[in-house]
Amino acid sequence: MAPSEPLAEPGSAEAELLARIDRARLPRHVAIIMDGNGRWAQARRLPRVEGHRAGVTAVRDTVETAARLGLRHLTLYAFSVENWKRPRAEVWTLMNLLKEYVRRELETLIEHDIRFDPIGRWRELDPSVVTALERARDATAGCGGLRFNIALNYSGRCEIVDACRRIVADWAAGRRVDIDEAALSEALYTAGQPDPDLLIRTSGELRVSNFLLWQIAYSEIWVTPTLWPDFRRGHLFEAILEFQRRVRRFGGIEPAEAETAGTDHAGAGRRGVADA
Ligand code: FPP
Repeated sequence: MAPSEPLAEPGSAEAELLARIDRARLPRHVAIIMDGNGRWAQARRLPRVEGHRAGVTAVRDTVETAARLGLRHLTLYAFSVENWKRPRAEVWTLMNLLKEYVRRELETLIEHDIRFDPIGRWRELDPSVVTALERARDATAGCGGLRFNIALNYSGRCEIVDACRRIVADWAAGRRVDIDEAALSEALYTAGQPDPDLLIRTSGELRVSNFLLWQIAYSEIWVTPTLWPDFRRGHLFEAILEFQRRVRRFGGIEPAEAETAGTDHAGAGRRGVADA
């Protein structure tokens, strides 16, 4: 999709959804658990890896749409620490799809001003994958549009362990920061980025699967039965519209209720907002 093409075909269902999105209240960070590739393939009597292959098209559409819509941060869960339990051939295919994706998409990422950033224990992947990832990361380091984090060899629990190790190493080196929530956030792979406002999961499963455990404390969750290979921009628009309908209380109460109760309602009742 060239940056000059319309984000949605005029008169299409996607265009109608897009027109309803309030661009001033976009989620600052959208995180997606891409699930259902295997079932997509199974339903077509295809090998599981064909589901992953088809999933790459959904990745491409989602990343470009997010960038063109003006989202600032997008994190896709592509390979977990637990995914090593899968058959070797499936893991091998996933790694090759990843290398192929970064090689083929690099120009498009740059064209859309997208900064590509792997997160997780991705440096432990095969050296050929690490090299491909580093190349894309370095080539897009100066891009100032969407920050596209791809979670690879990722585990939310490992991320918290790694953050603690970093803080301990800093202490040992004499950099003794106060150990509070801000310090831990700054030691995570997503340091400097806002927590996801919106977490999307495809394929209807109601789990967080060890994804961004610290960061999703107050994320709004949107689950769609759509299998990942069928996920397209219209689904992203639907998720954002639903996010914009949610009332976010962050443990407080709604402003109207606070007024009735005569309490201070600072920070309460923020409807899905970019600066909440
Ligand atoms: C979950 O579906 C999906 C994955 C474990 C891998 C996600 C990978 C891709 C979308 C393709 C490669 C990505 C990039 C960025 C090039 P599943 O296999 O667990 O599905 P199932 O639950 O139906 O079996």
